[in-house]
Amino acid sequence: MAFRFNFPNPDSSNDDDNEEDISGKVDDTNQEQKFSTKEDGKEIFLKDHDIDLPEDVTATIHTFNDVEVHCYNSESVEEYLCRNRPQTSNFVTAVSAHSDLVPDKYEGGLTVWECSLDLAEYLSYNKSLVQDKTVLELGCGAGIPGLCAMQCGASEVHFQDYNSEVLEYFTIQNVHLHESCCQCRFFSGDWSYFQEIARQQKYDVMLSAETIYNPDNYRSLHAVFKQCLSKDGVIYLAAKSHYFGVGGGVHLFEDFIRKEGSFHIEMLQSTSTEVPRVILRLTWRQCET
Ligand SMILES: C[S@@+](CC[C@H](N)C(=O)[O-])C[C@H]1O[C@@H](n2cnc3c(N)ncnc32)[C@H](O)[C@@H]1O
Repeated sequence: MAFRFNFPNPDSSNDDDNEEDISGKVDDTNQEQKFSTKEDGKEIFLKDHDIDLPEDVTATIHTFNDVEVHCYNSESVEEYLCRNRPQTSNFVTAVSAHSDLVPDKYEGGLTVWECSLDLAEYLSYNKSLVQDKTVLELGCGAGIPGLCAMQCGASEVHFQDYNSEVLEYFTIQNVHLHESCCQCRFFSGDWSYFQEIARQQKYDVMLSAETIYNPDNYRSLHAVFKQCLSKDGVIYLAAKSHYFGVGGGVHLFEDFIRKEGSFHIEMLQSTSTEVPRVILRLTWRQCET
């Protein structure tokens, strides 16, 4: 299955698949119309959730240090969805468009992206950061960092993603592959909607991987950080230095955060790969010593 997102796709061995420039498809001149087409935000309750993936949908174990995280294989879930979901589903629409990014419909949540593995690896070597903590993963997709936090002893992990389909057929299914007493909740919809749903919610730790590719979303992501991070809370964000064709990347995001003035931002880790990948740490500015 050819996926097209214009930043490198770790699941794809064919570079040609990643070269299409979709920047023209992201029409940021009509924000009002864009907003009206976004998926409504909602909490997905496990008790209402009776989806069982069949046995031919396969899973893999990712090992980070001494932590095992189980995850269904993207391609296997994608094949299942193509067979079983209606043509109108957001995911099937994206597949028909040969795209990993159909704005306001599907934004690559069924692929496991490299930075989510970096972040999980980091947590596995620093378990105390999440042990007994309430954790939110934003733009979770498969939810690898959130699952890792769960395996490292977080008391509660909430998973949030734009797509309800991604949460229902991938994230929740991945959570079910683990035995854990960690309390999990799931929220779908745009970050602007999540703010509405999560008015009273505060988190000790927020995680996010590969979610800063589109600068149009920085404001709503930042608003969730501001609203939902507890007084001594910490945000760990893993991202590529640059997302070709979409325009976002680490420097642009750091500039945005600094200009807004609420958070201190520092780089914890950097890999010197062709497209460098980093882990950023954000804390409230008034907590600086
Ligand atoms: C490139 S994928 C990364 C998925 C996962 N974090 C990973 O690294 O494997 C980007 C994810 O962010 C979510 N996302 C993007 N924009 C969003 C928004 N405005 N509100 C909520 N989720 C968003 C998408 O649904 C998608 O799952």
